[in-house]
Amino acid sequence: MAIIVGGLGTSHVPSIGAALDKGLRDTPEWKPFFDGYLPARAWVREQRPDVAVVVFNDHYNALFLDRVPTFAVGCAAEYRPVDEGWGPRAIPPFEGASHFAWHLVDTLVEHRFDPEIIQEIKVDHGLQVPMELFWGRPSDAWPVRVVPIFVNVLQYPIPLPDRLYELGKVLRRAIENYDSDEKFVVLGTGGLSHQLQGARAGFVNPTADRQFLRDIAEDPGKLAGWSRERYVETFGGEGAEVIMWLVMRGALNRDVVVRHQHYFVPASMTGAGMIVLENA
Ligand code: DHB
Ligand code: FE
Repeated sequence: MAIIVGGLGTSHVPSIGAALDKGLRDTPEWKPFFDGYLPARAWVREQRPDVAVVVFNDHYNALFLDRVPTFAVGCAAEYRPVDEGWGPRAIPPFEGASHFAWHLVDTLVEHRFDPEIIQEIKVDHGLQVPMELFWGRPSDAWPVRVVPIFVNVLQYPIPLPDRLYELGKVLRRAIENYDSDEKFVVLGTGGLSHQLQGARAGFVNPTADRQFLRDIAEDPGKLAGWSRERYVETFGGEGAEVIMWLVMRGALNRDVVVRHQHYFVPASMTGAGMIVLENA
């Protein structure tokens, strides 16, 4: 049976990718941010997961308001990076893990989650940036296959935090019932606090972000019980996307060990957080 080696949480701010493209990694503004990920990258190199299940949202780059799946699972053989307006990025396409993805869809439906099934789509910074932060940029191919889980966190009504936590528990069953000796890692992405538009544009909440990094490890049930409105108030209109970390957390044991964590504010307009969790 397949195993889960751990869970990774990270922000997915697009200008992180742009900073790497422009060669700004070691500038005084960015170096402390990127250096914070070095222990996590060492952890990934040690664990060598075969498959990464990446929970993220598309930001109107591959999907738009004409069709908004609440949950969608990528069952494709390959995902190309979408051009978000700065031109194509020099990163390889992501190889899918379609056999597992279909098994995941099957398991979700059996547990009363009914996702959209996507067989062709491109992926935006929501997936690209976390992959590059944890695996580094490969010259030819990524050393891990991906299964994207797309969550609607933009067009209300977005799903309940508690529902995402439950989704993570079903994801765990799917991995543990999968007839394979592959190693899986689950990535929750987005957040932490940021608001990009409206009267509170520029809002960040470092105190709440640091508390979130503690609670996601120690008390995820509390975070799952919060209302969506409370997420918006606490983390900002766009920062509420941090609820996607609850899928990653739901896939782990009640008790976890925090291997690494990092917090940096602001990356672009965002309180940028990272965590590496293993089952206790
Ligand atoms: C920013 C952060 C995000 O998470 C995102 O999806 C888009 C933009 C930002 O801070 O610029
Ligand atoms: Fe986002």
